[in-house]
Parts: sequence; structure tokens; C-alpha cells
Amino acid sequence: MANTAVHGTTAGYVSPDITAIAPGIWKLRFGTPETFTPLQCRERQADMAGLATLPEAPAPPFDVSRARGRITASRTVVYLPGAGADDEIYGFGLDPACYRQKGLRKELTVAAAPVTQTGASHGPVPFYLSTLGYGVYVDTARVPVVEVARLAAKSSAEPPAAGETALKTSAAELYAPPQSQEQGEVVFDLRGNGQGVEVFVFAGPQMRQAVQRYNLFAGGGCLPPLWGLGMKYRTWTQADQAMAMEHARSMRRHKIPADMFGLEPGWQTHAYSCSLAWDASRFPDPDGLVADLRQLGLRVNLWEHAYVHPSSPLFERLLTRSGDYLVWGGLVVDFADPEASRIFAAYHEDELVAKGIAGFKADECDRQPITDATPFNYPYCSVFPSGIDGEQMSQLYGYLYQRSLYSVFRRRNQRTWGDVRATTALAAPLPFCLYSDAYAFDEYLRQLLNASFAGLLWSPEVRDAGSLEEYLNRLAMSSFAPQLCLNPWFIPHPLWQQYNAAKNSRGELLPAAEQERVAARMRDIVQLRMQLLPYLYAGFRRYQSEGLPPVRSLLLEFPADTRLRDIDNQFLFGDHLLVAPFMGPGCEREVYLPRGTDWCDFRTGERHAGGSEVRVAAPAGDIPVFVSTPCLLPLAAPLEHVADDAVFDITVRVYGQDPACFDLFEDDGVSFDYEQGRFNRVRLTWADGKGTATRTGTYPAARYNISGWERVGT
Ligand code: GAL
Repeated sequence: MANTAVHGTTAGYVSPDITAIAPGIWKLRFGTPETFTPLQCRERQADMAGLATLPEAPAPPFDVSRARGRITASRTVVYLPGAGADDEIYGFGLDPACYRQKGLRKELTVAAAPVTQTGASHGPVPFYLSTLGYGVYVDTARVPVVEVARLAAKSSAEPPAAGETALKTSAAELYAPPQSQEQGEVVFDLRGNGQGVEVFVFAGPQMRQAVQRYNLFAGGGCLPPLWGLGMKYRTWTQADQAMAMEHARSMRRHKIPADMFGLEPGWQTHAYSCSLAWDASRFPDPDGLVADLRQLGLRVNLWEHAYVHPSSPLFERLLTRSGDYLVWGGLVVDFADPEASRIFAAYHEDELVAKGIAGFKADECDRQPITDATPFNYPYCSVFPSGIDGEQMSQLYGYLYQRSLYSVFRRRNQRTWGDVRATTALAAPLPFCLYSDAYAFDEYLRQLLNASFAGLLWSPEVRDAGSLEEYLNRLAMSSFAPQLCLNPWFIPHPLWQQYNAAKNSRGELLPAAEQERVAARMRDIVQLRMQLLPYLYAGFRRYQSEGLPPVRSLLLEFPADTRLRDIDNQFLFGDHLLVAPFMGPGCEREVYLPRGTDWCDFRTGERHAGGSEVRVAAPAGDIPVFVSTPCLLPLAAPLEHVADDAVFDITVRVYGQDPACFDLFEDDGVSFDYEQGRFNRVRLTWADGKGTATRTGTYPAARYNISGWERVGT
């Protein structure tokens, strides 16, 4: 293997204890791991049955015995072989700024902003992938500094080359980009960890299987309720009950499909910090609201954060089970204490979930960077009764917070679908989507791709827009994400009445006919997502049982196509759709179609060879979508919302010759009974010019009615 030198064997460096722990996964142990790590706090055990279905990997993907560690009183350092000159490295979580990682220095801290090359993000994850076809996870809740194949070890010093100029005179020569310093090694510096760490190596043979192994090691991906795949509409933070209902009814009048209705901070008597109690002046009848929205086919999601205000009924109960500093005047819950987590969960169950609340938006569980004094940073020197320290808590807060909320739903055998603003490694089983206050198109897209390398789900939400074109293109992009969410929390009128935030706030609404036009285009765009809902659900089933992300980087599917190494603005939605959003301004762009298969334009059916580049221009909102050909693509008649007993009427599009079969996943869509085997596989096959659907399994009802087959792109 090229250029994989690791740090020398000088005294002070330790070799790992190596154990094969599952098919294709090896544990490298250096010293004694810390008590609080993602692995110690993980939601689920590894899915050994799922792992057993992946390709065999009898030997580690590189010589793991050459990995080294160094443990001193102040830090643990791990030195790993990285990538050779022709290889690349991806990963490190929800990085908004960088796709390729080689040559960079990362500081993987949970952070809300700003965007830097350091990998600070809402979901920093110390897991990386090499294009050599493997992945490495360092199990830490410290803020690791990672030198990604950029350092020059002393042992690499070379005698001066003949004719080399002694004096470099230009800044360009002196400060050449980091990529040029390829030295192979990936170094994790865990400051504050004086005892050791466990490192996990995941075999491929390609990056895709390494990601699958990593997600299955985490317990497998989450399976949202079927209704979670529909649209989530959040409303104005100051809305009261009457206004919330009016917005919901207006959405229904316009026949815009939606499944969830989100209330922002104003539902509570006190937010920032949170009372977690309904404000009777704005919401006099919460039970009535939940029932009325449910009548309209909408499930309620509540915004909150886990800083507990003195007026909250939870305050006294958590006083001794929280950190020694307040945030926004509220307690920082010691979620690392199982009893604190249980108390928090029990309150949510009794007061909210038992009364019909279907999900939560867990906000503000990240932190601001050191340069920003915004008051939601508790310090790294915080003290928590459980013994977790402030740094570890900052890294794990969002993760443990999700676990507490999720425990309510697990106990009730009821699936949920939530939002969260921070998470970390091994989060795949948790049914929450990350979101952000940031809004740049390219970052949104990059996060969508990077999330797929790290067992994360990203929700590029829509808030407002400067033009109709931008608004529709944003909506379209969001409709091809794991979650489709509209979050105009800061504007009083619904988005179809005015998408421009300033005008909306001033009450300058669009003329009535224009409002109708906007609503109609929204309807079209969301309807396409609803058509794809059974297809997406099948993708999520693969996430859950095979660890394969439902929305993912094309590199995971076409590893041999090196052109994809730089393409961070196109992605795969489910197994067969390549999506290339318009990143505005304008509705025109180049799309690169990967080698290895043909592609049909989803809208026109026009066929293109893989390896080609096509220029697409289309009306706003009709972002380019290409179908890998041959394949079977199930399309449902769009529902306005997914009722518990919804049945989807499906037409199967047949692309090209001899397509492989496609498996739909059929179950009740709302409980965890599928874990006990109560589900069906509806296998779609096409042979001899005829389509067949074969249902096997124990789920007693049919959710999918296959009513037609349609040939395209032959
Ligand atoms: C922000 C959050 C927004 C919105 C807002 C309400 O922290 O990112 O989506 O919920 O709080 O105050």
C-alpha cells in the first residue's frame, strides 16, 4: 500500500491490543478508555445479524499492528495510516465547508457557527473514510484535533535534492496548499484524555460497505414513521392556537401535502430557558389543538431545548441532577445520569406524548465557538454530578438529549420523527434530523453528502427567499432530503402568502392570484415527494437493516469514478435517483452522470450514457433528477398526508432492459412491531415484458396496491 508510513516506534509509543469484534470490524485499544464516550453512551448494541450479511473481510484493510498511540498525563494521541498520494479521505461528520479532507487540520467541536475548514459543525464525528476502501472511528467525547495526512514526521526528512533552490521567494511557493504535503498519516490528538482510547477499523471492500459496517456497529439506521417522510411545516414563534389552526387550514385549502405541524417557542410559558409547559394565554386548549390538527392529518411537533427554567415543573426535580452553571437562566440537565434522563423523559411522556404530541425539535444543544459569547455555552470546566466533564457533555449533549426523548417513544412502541441541532458519533439509530440556522446553498448540499459518510441525517430546511425562483428551488432541494421541513419561525404569515421575510413581517402579502400560483407550485413539488414516499421508505428500511444511508454521496455508489471525488453538489436519493439541485440564481446547471450505468431524465425520459455531462435548464422548482437505468421505480399517487391506514396506489416505472427487482417495505408504519418480524416484503419484478408484485411476510394488511407498470427509456 502506497505511502502508509506511521509514526516510528520510539520509546513512549504504544502498540494497540487488536481484537476482531464483528465481521469486518477490528478494535484497536490503546490504554484504558474514558468512561464517557459515544460508545459507552450508545443507543443500541451492534446489529450482528446485519453485519453478517456484508461481504466477508477476513483480514483488516491495512496493517493495523502499525497503528501507534502515545498516552501522557495531558493527552492521548493516535497515529493511523492515512491515504497515499492517489487516495482521498472523506468524513468527520456534518462538515459544512469541506468535502475532501486530506491535508486539513480539523478540530471536531460541536458548534452552531461559523463555517470554517475545521469540521466544527452540528454533528462532528471522529469517523473518516479512505478511498482505499475502509473507515476508522476514534471513540471519544473529547474535542479531537485531527491532522489529516498533512504532517511531516522527522523520519521523513530527505537530503536536499540536487539543484533545489535554497530560497523560496513567493508566498505561493511558501504556503502551497495543504494537499501538497501528503505524508499519509492521520493523527488524532485527544487533549485532556490522559488514559487511552479505543479505535475501530471498518473494512470495505469499498467506502460504502465501511459506512454500512459503521452504521450497523451503531445498531443500524433509524426507521421513521411513514408519516415522518411527508412535509413538516413549522409556524411563527408567536402564533397562538387560533393562528396555528388558521395556517393549517389554509395549507389544506390549498391542498399542499403535509404531515407534521411544528410549534416554535411560543407554546411555552417561558422559552430560553424552557418551562416546558403550555402557555394558556396563547394555547388555551392544547388537547383540542392536537385533536383538531390530527383531524386535518397533521401530527404536532414541539420546539424546546434542555435548559430548564425555574418556573418549570421539572426544575426542582432536576436541581441536584444538573450542571453547576445555568444557561439562559436554566438548568443544564445531566443527561449522563440515567435518573436525570429518566425524569426528563417521564415528564415528556406524561405531559406531552401521552396527550398526543408526536415529536420534538431539540434545539440549542450545540454551542457557539469561543469567539462568540452567546449565552448557551456552559464551560468546559462545568461540573456535573454524574462525573462527565463539561467538554464531554458539550460533545454529547444533543446525543444524550435525543436518547432521553426517544426512550419515551420506545417505551410506548410508537415511532417518532424529530429535529435536533447537535449530535455525534453512533447516532444512526436515533430518528432525528439535524438542522441549522445557516442558509447557504452550497453548504446545505455539502452537509447532505457529508452526513451520509457519518450516520447522520440532515434537513436543509426552507425558511424564506428573496425570489420565487429561489423559494421553489430551495423547496425542491429540501423535498429530496431525508426530511422535508419548512421552518418560517420568524415570520407571521404562511409562506405561500409571502416568501420574502421582510415583506411578510410588514404584512405586505402577495396578490391573491399570486398566492394561488405559489401554493400550486408548492403543491407540485411536495406531491413529487409524496409520489416517492414508498420508494424513500424502502431506502430507510435499507438504512435500518443494512446501514446504507437513504440519501447519500454518489461516491459511495460509484467509487471507481474518480471525477466524483470533487462533486459535492449532486447526490443519490434512494437507490436510483441522482438529484442535482439548482443552486441559484438561475435554473440551469451542469450535471455529471457517473460512469457505470445509463441515466434517464426523470421528467423527459431522455436517456444519457454514464460518464457524460449534461446541461439542464428547467422551470424553477423542477430541479434535475436522473434515474439510473435499468431499474424499477415505484411511484405512488400522492396523498395529502399519511393516515395510519393509508394505502398507496402505485405505478411502477420500468426503465431500460432487464431491471433488477425492487423491494418495498410494508408494515404498520407507526410502531416497532417490524422488529418482531411483522412486516412484508413486496418484491417488484419485471420479466418477459410483464411486471409482478410478490408479497411475503406476516403483516396482515396491504399498504401498497400495485396498479400499473409503465415503460420508460427503452
Ligand atoms: C433557533 C432555531 C430556529 C428556531 C428558533 C426559535 O435556535 O435554530 O430553527 O427554532 O431557534 O427561537
